[in-house]
Amino acid sequence: MMGIVSKFTILLLFLLACNTFTSTDAYDPLDPNGNITIKWDIISWTPDGYVATVTIYNFQQYRHIQTPGWSLGWTWAKKEIIWSMTGGQATEQGDCSRFKGNIPHCCKKKPTVVDLLPGTPYNQQTANCCKGGVLSSWGQDPANAAGSFLISVGSAGTSNKTVRVPKNFTLKAPGPGYTCGPAKVVKPSRFITADRRRVTQALTFYNDTIVRCPTCACGCQSNMTQPGSCVEEDSPYLASVVSGFGKNSYTPLVQCTSHMCPIRVHWHVKLNYKEYWRVKITVTNFNYRMNYSDWNLVVQHPNFSNLTQIFSFNYKSLTPYGKINDTAMLWGVKFYNDFLMQAGPLGNVQSEVLFQKDAFTFDKGWAFPRRVYFNGDNCVMPPPDAYPWLPNSSSRQHISLLTLVMTLLSALTVMYEYA
Ligand SMILES: *[C@@H]1O[C@H](CO)[C@@H](O)[C@H](O)[C@H]1NC(C)=O
Ligand SMILES: *[C@@H]1O[C@H](CO)[C@@H](O)[C@H](O)[C@H]1NC(C)=O
Ligand SMILES: *[C@@H]1O[C@H](CO)[C@@H](O)[C@H](O)[C@H]1NC(C)=O
Ligand SMILES: *[C@@H]1O[C@H](CO)[C@@H](O)[C@H](O)[C@H]1NC(C)=O
Ligand SMILES: *[C@@H]1O[C@H](CO)[C@@H](O)[C@H](O)[C@H]1NC(C)=O
Ligand SMILES: *[C@@H]1O[C@H](CO)[C@@H](O)[C@H](O)[C@H]1NC(C)=O
Ligand SMILES: *[C@@H]1O[C@H](CO)[C@@H](O)[C@H](O)[C@H]1NC(C)=O
Ligand SMILES: *[C@@H]1O[C@H](CO)[C@@H](O)[C@H](O)[C@H]1NC(C)=O
Ligand SMILES: *[C@@H]1O[C@H](CO)[C@@H](O)[C@H](O)[C@H]1NC(C)=O
Ligand SMILES: *[C@@H]1O[C@H](CO)[C@@H](O)[C@H](O)[C@H]1NC(C)=O
Repeated sequence: MMGIVSKFTILLLFLLACNTFTSTDAYDPLDPNGNITIKWDIISWTPDGYVATVTIYNFQQYRHIQTPGWSLGWTWAKKEIIWSMTGGQATEQGDCSRFKGNIPHCCKKKPTVVDLLPGTPYNQQTANCCKGGVLSSWGQDPANAAGSFLISVGSAGTSNKTVRVPKNFTLKAPGPGYTCGPAKVVKPSRFITADRRRVTQALTFYNDTIVRCPTCACGCQSNMTQPGSCVEEDSPYLASVVSGFGKNSYTPLVQCTSHMCPIRVHWHVKLNYKEYWRVKITVTNFNYRMNYSDWNLVVQHPNFSNLTQIFSFNYKSLTPYGKINDTAMLWGVKFYNDFLMQAGPLGNVQSEVLFQKDAFTFDKGWAFPRRVYFNGDNCVMPPPDAYPWLPNSSSRQHISLLTLVMTLLSALTVMYEYA
């Protein structure tokens, strides 16, 4: 399944997979194998337990984990404790009063572990740690899609016969959330040497538990019905919100608009070329409390196989249905527009895309994407008959633009308009 360069011999290994749940289904046709796999490698036995390297692989094509990052929880099967950790930390120590002298790092029955922050002293780091829990998606930046920490476990079994696998793993991250299947011990079928790559068996577990997203997203509240839920652009109050209190809150604080959504995706079709048609894509941030680093868009449109040129976004084709090349992952160019700034004059990113054109019509809204995700958040599209379209007559082709505006939040309200 994967090749990992490691210096360790693995004594016991177990894996589990976590899947995201979206509002409609646990299965995402655009990323059918997307999952987060957690690998727990026991690399040495100690007098009362073991040392393990725990690695979280974000095998999702386009969903990344953004600030404030992942947190991983589980329930110990016995009375295990964590003696020490590097590259991560338990959020609470818990009751360690039964220990005298050498006090464990954490004694909780259900510990929660988070990543350390960038700038952690070197001696507390491990490879792939200390990114504040931020993981890129596999499609966008596989080199930064894994995070790991080292954990020394006590009061545990001391051989692969007596050790017990922790239970009920939970993975929390901003966004839709994840459900984790049970951990499975995987026979370390091939052992590693210092310079060799290791192949592990893929795990076939798939947990199809569906948890609904909140049904009420943008537009359910307004500054009128719920004062303080949005801020006017010219409000004197704005500066204090942006620079002062609430700055560290991750609750969105949106600019007052008719849609009240934190993100808008604007798909503007221009027909003004003989052999090409052009789309201008603009993503606007209306949230005063969020900067999106390494944002991405996934767009499904049948004409992506005729993509000719894309300006100032990165492009990668996803082919979820085998040969059908209709889905694109788009993300910003490093140091140029990979950072979508909080709401305000700089809070937008844009690019233009050129598609080759043949004889076509704007009937049935085909110029518009079938599906859009922003950072993995699904945007439910308007019904096809609600799309803007032009009369069939080719004489009307001088009409030079159509615009579709989609606004989205994790839970799905679409706004669109056209000119
Ligand atoms: C998780 O993703 C990896 C990489 O795409 C894949 O090999 C593996 O089979 C997936 N696991 C599950 C349980 O879906
Ligand atoms: C446990 O360890 C023994 C010897 O060290 C080995 O033969 C056996 O395959 C291991 N079992 C598992 C499940 O890894
Ligand atoms: C794991 O969760 C299940 C269902 O929530 C519960 O019945 C079980 O007792 C839990 N196991 C442990 C070890 O906490
Ligand atoms: C899937 O995960 C949920 C939540 O963690 C758990 O309650 C359920 O038992 C799991 N399903 C299976 C088939 O293990
Ligand atoms: C809410 O709306 C009222 C009226 O439009 C405005 O005076 C007030 O400043 C708004 N509040 C915020 C926090 O923007
Ligand atoms: C967003 O980034 C800008 C520039 O780095 C910074 O001034 C601002 O405080 C950040 N906003 C938030 C909400 O983190
Ligand atoms: C791609 O362009 C060619 C030539 O213009 C056209 O024949 C074909 O239908 C287009 N295919 C798609 C899927 O847009
Ligand atoms: C899909 O089409 C685009 C545009 O022609 C091309 O650049 C890309 O390589 C294609 N992807 C696949 C997987 O065929
Ligand atoms: C776009 O794709 C549709 C559906 O495959 C096709 O009918 C149409 O000709 C394509 N348009 C262009 C301009 O390539
Ligand atoms: C466009 O063509 C379809 C069938 O091809 C027809 O039903 C529809 O009325 C036409 N629309 C206009 C505005 O001419």
